[in-house]
Amino acid sequence: MLRAVLQRAESIARGSGAVLLEGWQRVRRREPIHTQFKSSPFDPVTEYDHRSEAFIVAALRDSFPDHCVVGEEGGDYRTDCSARLQWQIDPLDGTVNFSHGFPCFAVSLGLLLDGEPILGVVYDPVHDELFAAARGLGATLNGQPILVSETAELSRSLLSTGFPYQRACNPRNNIRECGRFVLRAQELRRMGSAALDLCWVACGRTDGYWELDVRPHDIAAGIVMVREAGGQVSDTRGGLEMLARGEVVASNGRIHQAMLRLLQSEEDLEPVASC
Ligand code: IPD
Ligand code: CA
Ligand code: CA
Repeated sequence: MLRAVLQRAESIARGSGAVLLEGWQRVRRREPIHTQFKSSPFDPVTEYDHRSEAFIVAALRDSFPDHCVVGEEGGDYRTDCSARLQWQIDPLDGTVNFSHGFPCFAVSLGLLLDGEPILGVVYDPVHDELFAAARGLGATLNGQPILVSETAELSRSLLSTGFPYQRACNPRNNIRECGRFVLRAQELRRMGSAALDLCWVACGRTDGYWELDVRPHDIAAGIVMVREAGGQVSDTRGGLEMLARGEVVASNGRIHQAMLRLLQSEEDLEPVASC
């Protein structure tokens, strides 16, 4: 059953990716697209966030009328959310990148069973990369199996992270944590798409990723991807309440404890006297 759902979700993600790609090409041609701001000027939402969500929700409702569908942009639709199966949809993850013509964004479809992520599809239309995974079925990139990296030390690890939109007034803005990782990891990147951050851990492009203020639609699909690729996902305490706590630590497993130690540390690291 899961395999058939995965195939349908892959096709829906490709369809919404085509919607996004058309918008992105308009941005690249410097054509105006309709953009509003949610919590602050840091937090844009474009007409393509809405178009992609409308496409996905219509397709999911048609294919799976018994499932609950929750989209980030909360369009005007109603589904039965007492259902055990719930979709968490991010119709455009990486809106800031998208709106600048920066080629790093994706559509993310995650399926929860009783609140637990069991299936995920993430599609990056610019690079035509489709990540797909389901519990017990493994993780793939364009149909080929993927695995996490084997890096075992933080000092040799390439990591990524992200920051909340309301970072200027959010005490959990990740600035202090980031400072610790900058001093301990080989390098740190800020990609701008949580869904792709997780997929890139899953396929070994990066060794780990963490973020402290994320929503289920950002991470549900990617959590399945990392686990099915052999990696580890937890909250910052090492527990499994990522969705409830809105935080995620994902890694190849080998550097997981080292990442948790740095995240749990109270001290601010200083540069050492000599390198
Ligand atoms: C955001 C991106 C970003 C992450 C933010 C998310 P959006 O999602 O995933 O990388 O740092 O926490 O909100 O708003 O582009 O869908
Ligand atoms: Ca998002
Ligand atoms: Ca989004």
